[in-house]
Amino acid sequence: MSRSPRISASILNADFGRLADEVRRADEGGVDSIHLDVMDGHFVDNITMGPVVVGAIRPTTQLRFHSHLMIARPLRYAERFAEAGSDLIVFHVEADDEPAAVINAIEAAGKRPGIALNPETPAAAIDPYLERVDLVLVMTVNPGWGGQSFMGEVVPKLASLRDTIDRRGLPIELGVDGGVNLDTIARAFGGGGDVLVTGSALYSTDGDLAPTVAALRAAATTAHSDSERT
Ligand code: DX5
Ligand code: ZN
Repeated sequence: MSRSPRISASILNADFGRLADEVRRADEGGVDSIHLDVMDGHFVDNITMGPVVVGAIRPTTQLRFHSHLMIARPLRYAERFAEAGSDLIVFHVEADDEPAAVINAIEAAGKRPGIALNPETPAAAIDPYLERVDLVLVMTVNPGWGGQSFMGEVVPKLASLRDTIDRRGLPIELGVDGGVNLDTIARAFGGGGDVLVTGSALYSTDGDLAPTVAALRAAATTAHSDSERT
């Protein structure tokens, strides 16, 4: 099954003092979606942004917003992130709320659900929800901070999820989130990822992001043609 790499810009490492400009920079650089890392200081020991920030930058771009909720209570906030302008709301299977209830709430708010799993969480944990989500987000760092190193030991889990999705013909995108850069994107894409979240790999670049985005796509597809799913 032919796949093409989709680059999702995580604004976690962007200049928060110029967030609208940073979102525009990613849009003009040719990324496929904007990845908003929401952290509540409970699920992870960092606090980043809430619905008010999503709403503030929503008018900046037509690109789809993937709101990655690294929060303990996604059921409590799903509707507010929907109203603020998220297109896809991705919650963690490890969060406090029952995943099926969170999926129901996201759909009731008229948005599409995604489910995320941490590096140590087995793929089986999300199996009951695969028929209901549009995106599975495989964490290749422990969530909480940008700029961490890609955890290659997660690639076999990524590949097994790719096989499950393909074998069952599920209309799911497979995301890879954390430490994806020019050196690791081939393993993320070659391992089976479609939506490749890049934060510091993008925002460590000043000015026009188009060359960086093009280089990331090339690094994914070039090495993918001969990389093993290891
Ligand atoms: C981590 C975030 C990721 C990621 C983005 O909790 O979910 O989106 O770290 O930043 P980089 O690409 O720098 O790892
Ligand atoms: Zn993220």
